[in-house]
Amino acid sequence: MTQLQRVKISALGTYLPPRVLTNADLEKMVDTTNEWIMSRVGIRERHIADKGVAASDLAVEAVKNLVASHPFDLQEVDLIVLGTVTPDMMYPSTACLVQHKLGIANTWGFDVSAGCSGFLYALNTGVKFVEAGRYKKVLVIGSDVNSSMTDYTDRAVCIIFGDGAGAVLLEPAEDGDVGVIDHVAQIEGVGGQFLYMPGGGSLNPATHETVDQKMHYIHQDGKSVFKYAVKKMAEMTERILAKNNLTGKDVDCFIAHQANLRIITATAERLGMPMEKVIINIDRYGNTTAGTIPIAMQTALEEGKLKKGDMVLVAAVGAGFTSGATLLRWAY
Ligand code: UT7
Repeated sequence: MTQLQRVKISALGTYLPPRVLTNADLEKMVDTTNEWIMSRVGIRERHIADKGVAASDLAVEAVKNLVASHPFDLQEVDLIVLGTVTPDMMYPSTACLVQHKLGIANTWGFDVSAGCSGFLYALNTGVKFVEAGRYKKVLVIGSDVNSSMTDYTDRAVCIIFGDGAGAVLLEPAEDGDVGVIDHVAQIEGVGGQFLYMPGGGSLNPATHETVDQKMHYIHQDGKSVFKYAVKKMAEMTERILAKNNLTGKDVDCFIAHQANLRIITATAERLGMPMEKVIINIDRYGNTTAGTIPIAMQTALEEGKLKKGDMVLVAAVGAGFTSGATLLRWAY
C-alpha cells in the first residue's frame, strides 16, 4: 500500500451568534429552574441566531475568523465538507451556499448529516482526501442553527440546544510527528427512534397537519439518548486508545461533544483522565450539534490547554445513532 500523507489541522475559526439565551430567560418561558438545568445538564446559557440567520451564515463567519487567525488565500481550497442537521434548505447543500458566499471559485463540496457527530464525520471524510495525496487544502465545517427546530415550549429539549459553528483547515503535515493518527466510527440506525425530526423530509412533507403536530421540531427521548451516549462515548474512546496501544494517561486533551456535562465527566472518569485535561464549555454554549467540537477546540486553545504536539482525543455521539472518536497530535 502506498504511504498515506499525514494530515494536520492547521487553523481553526469559530462563530457564535451574539444573542444569549440564559437559564433565567428559560425560567420565564417553560417550567424549569437554573438549578435543574445546571445539575442535570450543566448549561448556564446558549447563543441563539436571529431570525433569517442560517447555518451557512454561521459557517461563513467561522471561516472568516479562521482566515483572520491564519491568513491564506481561500481560492486555494480544494474541498468543503460541512456537517449540519440544520441546513439552510433541503437543497442545495449548505456547502454550496458557503462556497458561493465566500466566492471560492474552483472547489467542490458536500454536506454530511450525522447529528452531533457531524463535525467528526466531516473531519474524517476531509482527512481521507488529503491523506490520499491529491488535496492540499480542505475546509471542514460544523454549523447548526438548532433554534430553528427547537420547540421552546418543550422544557426537556429547549434547555439543551444552542447555535454555533466552527471550521478547521486541513493540510498535509510536513512534520510527521503531528496530525491525525486514527479514527473509529459506527452508526446504529436503531437509535433513529430516540432523536429525530419527523417532518419536512420525503416521509412527512410539510403540511398544515405536520405543523399542527409539531413534526418540524426536535423529538427526543432524552433518557435513551443519555444512556446510549454514556455507553458509546466510553466504548469509542476506549476502542481508539486500545487500537493505538494508548491509555487515557497518554491523552493531553480530551475534546468531547458537549451534550451533557454528566456524559463528559462519566467518560473522563472511565478513562482515568483528570478533569484539567477535559475541555468543558457546555455551560456557555449548550449543545451546538456539529459546532461543539471545533468550538471546544477554540476553548482549549484560549485556556492554554492545547499546544503543539499534544495528544488530543476527540469523541462524539449523536442522532442516528452515530458515534466516533479521532486521535490526533495538535499541529500548532
Ligand atoms: O447530542 C445528543 C443530543 N441529546 C442529548 O445528548 C440528550 C441526552 N439526554 C440528556 O441530557 C438528559 O436525558 C436530559 C437533560 C434531556 C433530561 O435529563 P434527565 O436527568 O434524563 O431527566 P428525565 O428525562 O429523566 O426527567 C426527570 C424529570 C421528569 O419529571 P418527572 O417525570 O420525574 O416528574 C421531567 O419531566 O425532570 C423533568 N424535566 C425537567 N424539570 C425541570 C425534564 N426537563 C426539565 C426541565 N426542568 N428543563
